[in-house]
Amino acid sequence: MQNIIVAGGAGYIGSHMVKMLSSAGFNPVTVDNLSTGHRDSVLYGDFEECDIADSVRMGRIFEEYNPAAVIHFAAFSLVGESVSKPDKYYRNNVSGTLSLLDTMRRHACDRFIFSSTAAVFGNPEYLPIDELHPKTPVNPYGRTKLMTEQALGDYAEAYGLRYVIFRYFNAAGHDESGDLKERHSPETHLLPLVVQAAKGERSHIALYGDDYDTPDGTCVRDYIHVNDLCAAHLAGIKYLENGGEPADFNLGNGNGFSVKEIIDKVRLVSGTDFEVKTEGRRAGDPASLVADSSKARHVLGWQPEYTDIEDIIKTVWKTV
Ligand SMILES: NC(=O)c1ccc[n+]([C@@H]2O[C@H](COP(=O)([O-])OP(=O)(O)OC[C@H]3O[C@@H](n4cnc5c(N)ncnc54)[C@H](O)[C@@H]3O)[C@@H](O)[C@H]2O)c1
Repeated sequence: MQNIIVAGGAGYIGSHMVKMLSSAGFNPVTVDNLSTGHRDSVLYGDFEECDIADSVRMGRIFEEYNPAAVIHFAAFSLVGESVSKPDKYYRNNVSGTLSLLDTMRRHACDRFIFSSTAAVFGNPEYLPIDELHPKTPVNPYGRTKLMTEQALGDYAEAYGLRYVIFRYFNAAGHDESGDLKERHSPETHLLPLVVQAAKGERSHIALYGDDYDTPDGTCVRDYIHVNDLCAAHLAGIKYLENGGEPADFNLGNGNGFSVKEIIDKVRLVSGTDFEVKTEGRRAGDPASLVADSSKARHVLGWQPEYTDIEDIIKTVWKTV
């Protein structure tokens, strides 16, 4: 059985990846410092509590498991915090990743799958956003991810690193078993916040801006189910195994949903009502972000299963 290191496997997306790798016949080895993740989210494979920047311990982990590939989710990802504490973001997201890549080189592991983000594009110049769209991030979080993408290109050129970059739009949903959850603290993602309001766990939901140039005036985002994201990563592993060249892919559903639509759908699915307070726009929120994922479909043969937002919401509502 091949070992795959899942850096950040105790987090929201990583813990779903661990489960999927295990069902696909791999042994996932989670490496996580539990800074934002949860030990009890790692339900399969091996677990090593370790920071990716600790190159001595990471070296021992590589010796012990001799991994076939590394899937790298371990990063900080709060946009607002990246503005107030950029040092934290550059140190972990850029420097930590370079340290991980150097450990891989020392142990002749050359397959790397990287979690990037739509934030590398900044304000969209056209929609849907394909891989060739200009990359001009508007916050430190996006810049740390873009810098890492650029480093991957240079490492591929100089050291033969073979990588796949996946740029996620909005990850959403839970595994239908109910075993795994989205447990960010603080939670900043729209869907879990609206579900919390529907459950009566928060007094209201704040709607930031209703005067955008979109059909109902609220921001439009592309929601992709977490297991569809993970399925793309599995396809990425096979792609590299078959000798695929370094490549980047945008991952979304290709369908945008507005904040108001999400709120209405949660009301429908939950059969509850809750207060919505309209507040001013937040700085740096583009009106619409929708992915063009046709490259992933064509090159990887990937196809999202959850194309209906109501189905994605149901996976959350029935498991919380
Ligand atoms: N959630 C989304 O919608 C979304 C969208 C775009 C991109 N991403 C990217 O996907 C990845 C995973 O996101 P998530 O929502 O699952 O986040 P998360 O915070 O739930 O998971 C990140 C995990 O990495 C671990 N970690 C962080 N720094 C580490 C380090 N130095 N060493 C070891 N472990 C470390 C944390 O403890 C946590 O378990 C991140 O890289 C994020 O930037 C997420």
